[in-house]
Amino acid sequence: MKTTVLLGITGGIAAYKTPALVRLLVKSDLHVNVIATKSALNFVAPQALATVSTGSIYTDMWANLLKPSIEHIELADSADVAVIAPATANIIAKFAVGIADDLLSTTLVALRCRVLVCPSMNVNMWRNSVVQRNIESLRQAGHHVLTPESGFLACGWTGEGRMPEPEIIATAVVKLLNPPDLKGLRILVTAGPTEEPFDAVRFITNRSSGKMGLAIAQRAQARGADVILVAGPLRVSPPGDLPIVPVRTALEMRHAVMDRFPETDVVIKAAAVADFRPETVSSGKVKKEGMDPIVRLVRNPDILEELGRTKKPKQILVGFAAETDNASANAHKKLVAKNLDLLVLNDVSQVGAGFDSDTNIVRFLYPNDADEQLEIMSKDAVADQILNRVLAIRSARFSNE
Ligand code: PMT
Repeated sequence: MKTTVLLGITGGIAAYKTPALVRLLVKSDLHVNVIATKSALNFVAPQALATVSTGSIYTDMWANLLKPSIEHIELADSADVAVIAPATANIIAKFAVGIADDLLSTTLVALRCRVLVCPSMNVNMWRNSVVQRNIESLRQAGHHVLTPESGFLACGWTGEGRMPEPEIIATAVVKLLNPPDLKGLRILVTAGPTEEPFDAVRFITNRSSGKMGLAIAQRAQARGADVILVAGPLRVSPPGDLPIVPVRTALEMRHAVMDRFPETDVVIKAAAVADFRPETVSSGKVKKEGMDPIVRLVRNPDILEELGRTKKPKQILVGFAAETDNASANAHKKLVAKNLDLLVLNDVSQVGAGFDSDTNIVRFLYPNDADEQLEIMSKDAVADQILNRVLAIRSARFSNE
């Protein structure tokens, strides 16, 4: 079952941005139920929310009188996290003192999960001492408040009061859902293909999009790790707050990884590194008339194998194997040859696995010959499973000391 976000929308102009927020939450693999107050519906159409949401849009406490269930309790119980965006002075006041006079405010009283409040109002309303007192009460009750941004406000005033952009709210929601269980760990992830040029315009590469490695880096960062992503040319856009070392060739990737390896606790190599590169590279574009139709290749260094030879006892090494035939036997050879703590095997001939797909089907192989087959799942979910295994390997290793 998917993690569920309950989004409460109240009657501020910023409500028009909430379909974008819902889309971002859904993109993060979250199920979203929405409660929009009567006032909110002046600024956002329920049809727009229903189109982008995976859950239902609730607007009225009394809409479903003949239903046997009690809607506000069901909504509160099913929420793993709740967010109120935009939060008007009115809902902030009601939530702070426990007034329950409509579906949203009544549901808020019944919630047991973490709540993120995103105030949005005129600067003078925001500075009002009663509003500030209510905000303080919410914080003291353990709720999270996203401070409004400063800028030009819809009412014509300039100052604090703008609801932060949907991307910022979505990131804050995801953070609330993730306990920082990887805090203190430095994790280096590689992603994407490498490109091996043979002249100024031509190169050899492979089908890796970078989605798998990016998912691992993002999930690790969301769970509190200090992450570096060494990435070949990605076919997906990474978020702006992820530290990335862009590389092109296998030799550049080797340099970037080996440089950082001594300060790293965990390396996860999801990149599809080219095993060979053209022996010679022309600085200009070779004319086809003068071009040798045979390109001579030389072997690239195996970065993971080198890491396996040089790793310190406390460092954890996770490798991937993209296989099509004799998958388990080939993957097992890689696990041993590269001295890995965990090998993630994906049989890339399976539909829904491997290159460019949004999902993956993986099998974990361990040095003690144990293995685990996982179901098809999103690459984000695979990333979390890998990170969970990394934590388990670390705790087993440190408890043996
Ligand atoms: O990027 P996506 O489109 O999301 O696709 C994901 C993926 C299929 C690329 C990913 O899940 C995956 O399987 N990555 C590893 C692909 C690969 O190169 O497998 P391999 O069996 O050739 O290499 C084994 C391991 O050695 C890998 O961890 C690889 O990073 C590493 N290696 C390989 C060659 C080399 N010269 N240096 C290396 O470090």
